[in-house]
Amino acid sequence: MNKRTHTCGELNANHVGESVVLNGWVNTVRLHGQVVFVDLRDRYGKTQIVFNSEDYPGDFDAVKKLSMEDVLSVTGTVQNRGEGAVNPDLSTGEIEVMISKMEMLNEAAPLPFIISDRHSAEEDLRLKYRYIELRTDELQNNLKIRHKTYQAVRSYLSGQDFMEVETPVLMKSTPEGARDYLVPSRIHHGRFYALPQSPQIYKQILMISGYDRYFQIVKCFRDEDLRADRQPEFTQIDIEMSFVDEEMIFAQMEGLTCNVFKEVIGVDLPKSFPRLTWDDAMDTFGSDKPDTRFDLFLQDVKPFTDQSDFNAFKSAEIVKGLVVPGGAKYSRKNIDGFTYFVKKYKAKGLAWMKADGGQLTGGISKFFDEEALQKELITETGMNDGDIIFIIGDEKEITLTALGALRVEIGKAEGFSNTGEFKPIWVTDFPMFEYDAEADRYIAMHHPFTAPSSSDIKDLETDPGSLKSRGYDLTMNGYEIAGGSIRNHKPEFQAKIFELLGMDEAEATARFGFLVEALKYGTPPHGGIAFGFDRLVMLLAGTSNIRDVIAFPKTTSATSLMDEAPSSVTNDQLAELNIRIVNKKK
Ligand code: AMO
Repeated sequence: MNKRTHTCGELNANHVGESVVLNGWVNTVRLHGQVVFVDLRDRYGKTQIVFNSEDYPGDFDAVKKLSMEDVLSVTGTVQNRGEGAVNPDLSTGEIEVMISKMEMLNEAAPLPFIISDRHSAEEDLRLKYRYIELRTDELQNNLKIRHKTYQAVRSYLSGQDFMEVETPVLMKSTPEGARDYLVPSRIHHGRFYALPQSPQIYKQILMISGYDRYFQIVKCFRDEDLRADRQPEFTQIDIEMSFVDEEMIFAQMEGLTCNVFKEVIGVDLPKSFPRLTWDDAMDTFGSDKPDTRFDLFLQDVKPFTDQSDFNAFKSAEIVKGLVVPGGAKYSRKNIDGFTYFVKKYKAKGLAWMKADGGQLTGGISKFFDEEALQKELITETGMNDGDIIFIIGDEKEITLTALGALRVEIGKAEGFSNTGEFKPIWVTDFPMFEYDAEADRYIAMHHPFTAPSSSDIKDLETDPGSLKSRGYDLTMNGYEIAGGSIRNHKPEFQAKIFELLGMDEAEATARFGFLVEALKYGTPPHGGIAFGFDRLVMLLAGTSNIRDVIAFPKTTSATSLMDEAPSSVTNDQLAELNIRIVNKKK
């Protein structure tokens, strides 16, 4: 193989007349009688190379047999392209290389799918042949963006005195909310390590040890149900700071986010990001990660439905409406589709009315027979002729989440969210606990290390359900891109919270005793945050599929189709671990 003199994205008119060596993959082959044109590709670009049977000294039949993804090393001379053949879309579009020598480095077998059109193949097939899919322009570009993001994060944080520290991957099982991935110990039979759901405890301990600005770009593992923006192993930009409050963390993270967007995709974000309390986010957007690119808001319509003859909503905890401009165009079938959609969020149904000639028509409008009531609803909700209002009345949580999800769905379908903007927004003042009726206990809304908003421990005892936490999320365009909190740096607070979460002292000591102990030895007030790195890259790359920004992702059933993980292991391996498989799931 000849050593390449240039990459396939490098040559231009300045190189005309030079003898060059290129190595790369055959992207396309075009046979024009005795002339064969090939686009040779590597990760830097494509170059048109030309074989002319009249002056090609090698085996021209071999050239004619070239097929997509063969790997070649070629030697030739750079020349200007003929009149009219210049391709202004390619960096190398002015030139071509007339080949005098070709070496076939590897002949490619027929491809399972075409690289220039990855969406022509089902995702499962592409994941099985991920090494081929990774050759596509789209994925190469996404991984470039990912690479640039690592660099931008590291250089910004290092410049701000943050220190990168690695923390263990084999740790004690200290569940944070999701299920742990467990690793059996060969040396200590019956004992397990857990893979970290996040380095939460380690980073707090680093604060206790005085490393007051820590960060790490780190893999986290959670055995949870997967979605388009979730992977069982994913990457975080994990951050912790000492002697800080929320304002200092927000300012520093706004700086980081602005810097990343500017460095990676040249986008200027606002210097400081707007904020919304959790209550307001839920009330107005029906979501704790509001997509604020479009102005559709959930509105309280209970005063109107209560005055109407529509009785189904009279006993509902809340009744909310969503006005969709131009939505009167929706057919019965469209509306049935939306009804089906909200039922997935446990709503019992979806009521609607359209505005026409200043009046309400269709749907439940017949129950609003008083003209004044109709007019009032139209004015108060800001409906115009040609709009539709969707209404849900139910328990508060169901109403808000179902209508909030419908808002996002319609935003996408109508292109309202397709603004090309990035809208960061902090969500603050989360409830400290959620009550889990089934388990008859509280669960932490962020994680158990989050401080309550009250510094009086008595408030934790009297009415924990109404307490807010010092947790915060950074959201953007409907995604939660980061989450964090100010922590409990006083051991008695931390112990009390474990107790409220239903852990008795023995259990709390067994699971988190080392942390409570560590908190006693000089702990600074501290707080932090973790960005979902993959989600951040998704936004930067303009995709809504997390698998598009991870080189080797897992499917939604947590398998890797390429290497077939998880897989069975030998009985010998199991015996060493003192493990026996009792019941194999089909
Ligand atoms: P949290 O659990 O909110 O906080 O996670 C932080 C961010 O990580 C991303 N994320 C995920 N990304 C892809 N796949 C997943 N399965 C997944 N789960 C979470 C989200 C989320 O905002 N230790 C705390 C942080 C802290 O308090 O400092 C933590 O892990 O973007």
